[in-house]
Amino acid sequence: MVSKRTLGIVAGGSAVALLAATAVLLATRPSGGGRPATASAAGSAGGHPAASGAPLRDLAAARGVHVGTAMAAGRLGGIPGRIAAAQFDSVTPENEMKWERVEPERGRYDWAPGDAVVAFAKAHGMQVRGHNLVWHSQLPEWLTTGDFDADGLRDVMLRHVTDEVTHYKGEIAAWDVVNEPLDDDGSFRAGLWYRQLGASYIADAFTAAHAADPAAKLYVNDYGIEGAGPKSDAMYELVASLKKQGVPIDGVGFQAHFALGRVPATFRATMQRFADLGLDVAVTELDVRMPTPPDAAALRRQADDYRAVVEDCLAVSRCRGIAVWGLSDATSWVPDAFPGQGAATPYDASYRPKPAYDAMWAALHGDRG
Ligand code: XIL
Repeated sequence: MVSKRTLGIVAGGSAVALLAATAVLLATRPSGGGRPATASAAGSAGGHPAASGAPLRDLAAARGVHVGTAMAAGRLGGIPGRIAAAQFDSVTPENEMKWERVEPERGRYDWAPGDAVVAFAKAHGMQVRGHNLVWHSQLPEWLTTGDFDADGLRDVMLRHVTDEVTHYKGEIAAWDVVNEPLDDDGSFRAGLWYRQLGASYIADAFTAAHAADPAAKLYVNDYGIEGAGPKSDAMYELVASLKKQGVPIDGVGFQAHFALGRVPATFRATMQRFADLGLDVAVTELDVRMPTPPDAAALRRQADDYRAVVEDCLAVSRCRGIAVWGLSDATSWVPDAFPGQGAATPYDASYRPKPAYDAMWAALHGDRG
């Protein structure tokens, strides 16, 4: 079951890469041809394919994609650290690289928490997705209450982007340069940046990021753009126009924060539509929330959603990977953001793999659903 994508990579690579890719493929194909899970085909919260099968990261590598998770600097040790390092090959700092954390006072930077995530990634052979540089949320008070005119605010933005990307130069595979620039109706979100600077802040942020680290892939990242609709169309127009103007944008991140059963049937086609502009795409913050506590049927439906998302990414050759937003239900942001909802990640609150994990495994392994 060698995917087209794998063949492409092998064909374009060296003999060493060929051997390595072959080794991964052989190593990850269980002798029976099926998956090594102890769980039933439908999966169960008690099943442990994680313990008996190849880790997700090996399966993902064989398919030419990354599989990532958000991590907090305070949770890099213990069980979460071990699971993340074993199963995932990409990490996104959940909050540590956001403006309020990185530059809590004007011109005073606190890099330590972000550095800790980068060190963890390096120690375990993982890439880092930098998240994020310019967003309307999680901004320090000096910035939101500061009395900046447009020129002053633009300078502040450019300096922050330049300083942060420079600090992490060479360490970050991809940056979410601009996060959530659009409102649900597809208009520009009327946050600090757009209100003061108009849409030009977007191109300026990308240009500054590219100057500071020309090798990093630069993404715009948003939610609610996964299926057909006004917001997705508006994002398409935005990135098409940035490309046309020669702005250094490399990709579009689809956050993919879904409610149970609500993965758009058009997700794959949407990603392909953006890819056809000559852009990479990635699933950057996948989770599937549901009312808590969940029952077994809901967890099985959730597994179907996870599986659909992974298969959609695999079907789009420019989809670089899938990252989940939070390793486990113990630490997911969902219950805080959506009261009464939760159980949104692939691991339960005791760090046991859920059917959603089994589904990611099976999809990456290429099992037929
Ligand atoms: C969330 C974090 O998970 C929380 O810990 C924090 O309190 C708020 O932000 N879209 C994004 C992420 O781009 O940065 C958000 O992360 C979730 C929604």
